[in-house]
Amino acid sequence: MARLVIVSNRVASPKERAAKAGGLAVALREALSQRGGLWFGWSGETEVNPPEAPKVFRSGRVTYALLNLDPEDQRAHYAGYANGTLWPLCHYRLGLLTFRRADWEGYRRVNEHFARALLPLLKPDDIVWVHDYHFMPLAKELRKLGFEGRIGYFHHIPWPTPEVYLSLPSHAALVDDLSHYDLVGLQTENDVRALLTYISSEIHGWIAPGGTVGLKDRRFRVAAYPIGIDAEAFVSDAKKSVGKDEERRLNESLAGRTLAVGVDRLDYSKGLPGKFAAFGELLRSFPEHRSKVTMMQVAPLSRSEVSEYQALRRELEELGGAINGEFAEFDWVPLRYLNRPFQRATLAAIYRRSRVGVVTPLRDGMNLVAKEYVAAQDPEDPGVLVLSRFAGAADELKGSLLVNPYDIEGMAAAMDRALTMPLEERQQRWRTNMDNVETNTIHHWCQRFIDELTNVTDQFGPAGDTWGNARPQ
Ligand code: G6P
Repeated sequence: MARLVIVSNRVASPKERAAKAGGLAVALREALSQRGGLWFGWSGETEVNPPEAPKVFRSGRVTYALLNLDPEDQRAHYAGYANGTLWPLCHYRLGLLTFRRADWEGYRRVNEHFARALLPLLKPDDIVWVHDYHFMPLAKELRKLGFEGRIGYFHHIPWPTPEVYLSLPSHAALVDDLSHYDLVGLQTENDVRALLTYISSEIHGWIAPGGTVGLKDRRFRVAAYPIGIDAEAFVSDAKKSVGKDEERRLNESLAGRTLAVGVDRLDYSKGLPGKFAAFGELLRSFPEHRSKVTMMQVAPLSRSEVSEYQALRRELEELGGAINGEFAEFDWVPLRYLNRPFQRATLAAIYRRSRVGVVTPLRDGMNLVAKEYVAAQDPEDPGVLVLSRFAGAADELKGSLLVNPYDIEGMAAAMDRALTMPLEERQQRWRTNMDNVETNTIHHWCQRFIDELTNVTDQFGPAGDTWGNARPQ
C-alpha cells in the first residue's frame, strides 16, 4: 500500500485533547490514525530565518514533520492572503475582502518553502494529499522541483460562484495552480458546478463528462467528496457520558430546563449574531419558552489577529449581554456564552442533553458540528437539528429543519417548532439524518478520495506523462 502524506496548515498534535469545534485538523487526525503515514504542516511557531528542514518525530503510526515560518511570511500567508482574502471570498463576504500584492507574494513564498522542505521526505510512489486554501499552489511548486507522483487537493470551504470568484484579482493564477493536481475535491456538487462553470466560461478550459478538466496542456479531475465524522467514536462518547460527573453537573445546572446548543468557532461565517438575535426573537415572540429554555453557545476564539474577528467578538459580547439583560430572571440566565474549546467527550454530553442543535452559518463548506450533534443523540429521545440551508451539510441532512440564516424570525419559528416537536417526528427526522452520518463517515471519505486519486492518474496515463506529454513545469 502506498504511503499517505497529508499536508495541512494546522496539525493536531498527538497529545492535544481539547478539540476545537468540528474542524479540519481533528478530521485529518481521525483519517490518519487508521492508515498511518506522514503529516506535514506548520509547527505553529515563527522565527526569523527559519531552518529549511522541518522537525520530524513519530507518534504511533504517524510521522509528523513540522515547519517553522518566518514571522512576516507567516503573517502574509495566514492572516493576509489565506484569511484576509480567500476566506471572505469563499464565504461570499466581499465587503470583508482585502487584497494586497505583498500578501499574495508572501502566500506564494510560504508554498515554495513548504515544497522545498517536503520534497526530500517524499518517495516516488507516495500519495500526497494537500488540504485547504492555505496550499492551493503547492502541487505546482512540487512539480517545478521534479516530483511526479500523485497529488490531490481537498478544499474544505465553499467554492464561490463565478460572479463572486471573479472579484479575486489573482483568480486565474489560483485555478492554474489547481490544475497541477491530479484530483481536486470539493465538499458539494454545488461547489463543483461553480468551479467548472468558471473554468469553462472564464478561462477557456474544457470539461469532459465525469469531471475531467482540460486547462492548457494539463488534465485533472474535479469531484465532490462530502466530508464525514468518526460516527462510531461520537456515538460511543455520547453513550459513555451518561451518568458521568459532567452530565450530572450539566443537569443540575439546568434544573430541569430544556437546552438548545450551538458550537462554532468564533467566525463571521458562522452567523453567530443572527443566531443570538433569533434566540432573542424566540423569547420575545414565543414567551411560553421564557424560563424554560436555556441556550448554550460554545464559541472558541479564532484568528484573533485579524481585525474582523476582534470586531465580531465585541459584537457578540454586546448582543449576548443585551439578551440576558432583557430576559434573565434571578434564577435563570437565558444564554450561556463560552469562549473556550471542549474535549470531544464533553461536547458529546452537551449535544446529547440538548433538545435542539442550532447550526446556522451564513456559508459553510460542510459543518461537522451538525453531524456530531446528530451522532450524539439518544435514539429513543433525539433532539432536532436546526440547520442553515447554506451549510454543505444541508445537502445530506434532510431530516433537519432547514432555515435561511438571514431570516431572524424564520429561525426563531424553527427553534419553536423544534422545541415543541412530537417524539415520533423527532425520531423519524433523526433516523434520516443518522443514516447519512453513519454511511458517509470520515473513513469512507478518506478511502474514496485516496482510491480515486490512485485511479485518476491511471486514467490519464503514468504520472508525468499526461496525454503523452511530459509533465508541464
Ligand atoms: C476551517 C478551515 C481549516 C482551519 C480551521 C480552523 O475549518 O477549513 O483549514 O484550520 O477552520 O481555523 P484556523 O485558522 O485556526 O486554522
